[in-house]
Amino acid sequence: MRTVAATVLTALALIALPSPAAAQPAGETVTFTEHVAPIFYESCTTCHRPGQVAPMSLLTYEDARPWARAIRQKVVDREMPPWDADPAVGVWANDRSLSDEAIATIAAWADGGAPRGDRALQPPLPAYADSEWAIGEPDAVFAIPPFDVPPEGTVDYTYFEVPTNLTEGRWVTAVQVRPGAPAAVHHVIVTARAERTPEEQEARRRVDPGFRLDYDILPGREIEWNPGVAQLEGRGKGDPLGGTTVGNDGVALFQPGTARLLEAGTTLVFEMHYTPTGEPHVDETRIGLVFTDTPPERQVWDGAIMHGQFVIPPGAPDFKIETDLTFTKDVKLLNLLPHSHLRGVRWEYEAEYPDGRRETILSVPDYDFNWQIDYIFDEPLALPGGSKIHASAWYDNSAANRSNPDPTAEVRWGEQTDEEMMFTALSYLIDDEAAAETTQQQ
Ligand code: HEC
Repeated sequence: MRTVAATVLTALALIALPSPAAAQPAGETVTFTEHVAPIFYESCTTCHRPGQVAPMSLLTYEDARPWARAIRQKVVDREMPPWDADPAVGVWANDRSLSDEAIATIAAWADGGAPRGDRALQPPLPAYADSEWAIGEPDAVFAIPPFDVPPEGTVDYTYFEVPTNLTEGRWVTAVQVRPGAPAAVHHVIVTARAERTPEEQEARRRVDPGFRLDYDILPGREIEWNPGVAQLEGRGKGDPLGGTTVGNDGVALFQPGTARLLEAGTTLVFEMHYTPTGEPHVDETRIGLVFTDTPPERQVWDGAIMHGQFVIPPGAPDFKIETDLTFTKDVKLLNLLPHSHLRGVRWEYEAEYPDGRRETILSVPDYDFNWQIDYIFDEPLALPGGSKIHASAWYDNSAANRSNPDPTAEVRWGEQTDEEMMFTALSYLIDDEAAAETTQQQ
């Protein structure tokens, strides 16, 4: 290991150079079996294995060898594994980014001619329990109807509404989403839409959710739903319940003593992002839920930071939208899921504490619409009542943005990917148990 450390340091130094011509240091050889396979098994093969969404397997030397140069490029550029947050800000429970050392090791391996190494050192292939529920046997499973994913072309985001037919509210302690055709499912987001009567809705409005948005989201303007969401007849999607972007295992386990309330009559809305593979697939994605009869000490609440009043001018290269959310109670923030569309390029979140202290809590310098990444705090962030979260999002509506569908367009809020959003889903716990008890009776 002693010499490997030296190798890694040398390679690291070379990465910083403009042109790392020969990152292979004298002496030690970085090999697949000894050094690279363990990194791939930790960080790549959840997606890069047969039957999954990534284009090639990286399980064996034979699989990986032809891709060595592309792999080097993608890891040095931090495009793979997909993880868009600035590593200098925050600690994330689901961080899948590579350490500088791992990147240097992969680069040194590719630069050294991508040798196999000693077969005896090859670690065992990782086991994936694809045929089982990682959350244990669920108490309820809901599935979308079989959907034919065409072999070619682009499939618009597709929405399915699945009624739960729950006759009473249930506390959910674990969630798992399992794609039926993982090779063709890029991501799934399942939201829970409570079906409330106008009276119930009114009663609900009187419950203080522990935060407020400091502005009118869409003054005087109705949200226009795109044809996909119009399938939902303007009733919206509800709150995120649990999802899987490719490679996440699709599992959400709530901390002991916490649970999420699924109200009676809730409809589950599945947002499906399919990517054709060249072959036809039939997908029947399912969600499994584990319930508890014991009311939790704390309820998991959902919130959103959003701003819909904006017009991004044609060609604007760096258009900023910012807005605040204020917590009215002491809370623990669990996660942030930034969501903009094809013109979204950057996000930043700052906490402003009641004592005036400000702190950047998440920075996404290279936002990519393809990866809907939920950033889960390793240690839930304590925010005393009166704290604000200040969110900023940047948009590139110029022709230099390769994802931009139309640099000549004036862009407003909309569900379609050629319109824009400034939206962040989040969830939190309210510290005061009494507050949680009030809400259990809702
Ligand atoms: C979350 C799933 C996921 C993980 C984890 C992941 N990849 Fe990928 N990778 C993909 C997908 C999907 C693509 C196809 C292109 C895209 O969608 O961006 C891809 C593309 C690539 C490509 C480009 C292939 C081409 O056609 O040129 C390389 C190289 C690559 N990945 C290497 C890696 C390596 C190395 C790791 C681990 C260090 C890794 N990936 C981790 C999902 C993943």
